[in-house]
Amino acid sequence: MAAPLHTAWFNGGFMPLSEVRISPLDRAFLFGDAVYEVIPVYAGQPFLLDPHLDRLERSLHELSIRNPHRRTEWIEIISGLIEQNGGGNLSVYLQVSRGADIKRDHAFPPENVQPTVFGMVSTMAEIHPDQLGLRAITLADQRWARCDIKSTALLANLLARQAARAAGAGEAILLRDGHLSEGSASSVIIVEGGALVRRPAGPEVLPGTTTDAVFAAAARIGVTGRDEMISEQRLRQADEIWIAAATRGITPVLELDGRKIGDGRPGPVWRKVAAAFEAMKPHGTAH
Ligand SMILES: Cc1ncc(COP(=O)(O)O)c(C=O)c1O
Repeated sequence: MAAPLHTAWFNGGFMPLSEVRISPLDRAFLFGDAVYEVIPVYAGQPFLLDPHLDRLERSLHELSIRNPHRRTEWIEIISGLIEQNGGGNLSVYLQVSRGADIKRDHAFPPENVQPTVFGMVSTMAEIHPDQLGLRAITLADQRWARCDIKSTALLANLLARQAARAAGAGEAILLRDGHLSEGSASSVIIVEGGALVRRPAGPEVLPGTTTDAVFAAAARIGVTGRDEMISEQRLRQADEIWIAAATRGITPVLELDGRKIGDGRPGPVWRKVAAAFEAMKPHGTAH
């Protein structure tokens, strides 16, 4: 299991995670009025840092939360968190809330209220090759209409992930209006006739940094990818289904709602593309 490590970042400085104190009036606590990012780190180096910071800046902008740091400062915070927690394979969690006002009010607080910035680091869960692949269930997508914003308001995602766990599955794949949207905490890629297909970007799905990198890795080895709406029927008939997320990489779905995908084992396209994707990650001595 991924466990949080000792040193956190909180509003301008590093400190032990156990000493971070956040006001009960913080709007993240009261309303989920905050955005976040999860950046994978391999061998002590952040992977896909620019796309993650682009998305953080975009999420803040879309919610009119003031970005409290320049890009160079974000990079320093991330580097500091990695170094102070010993490097290696990690994930960095960053969260920015609209801050703590002196009262609870749905409308935004005055301009002088400072955003709350929190960062922590967790170990990256090791995935043993024998454990590769998971069972998934489908569920109705009950989330709001701006899933492109990486907001901490994740209740519908939590309910979906919990339903998956209760069903003995590793992920819930969400369907809206007869079409695939994404996983409860992952993007979904299907393979049809040797090519990758994913849902086009739009307000219904988070633009996945891992999916973009997987499409780039696939292109390098001659596997094409395209963005198209995917009907429920197409999903169920796909040759392969993968889920993609920063902390999980790309994982094949072996069974959907109790029915095998392909022969129920990781597929040939996954094997090729996963190897090409693996080669893109920073390597070296984990320090
Ligand atoms: C709802 C949702 N979609 C997609 C993703 C994949 O995004 P990324 O590959 O940038 O981690 C995540 C990641 O946590 C997610 O929570």
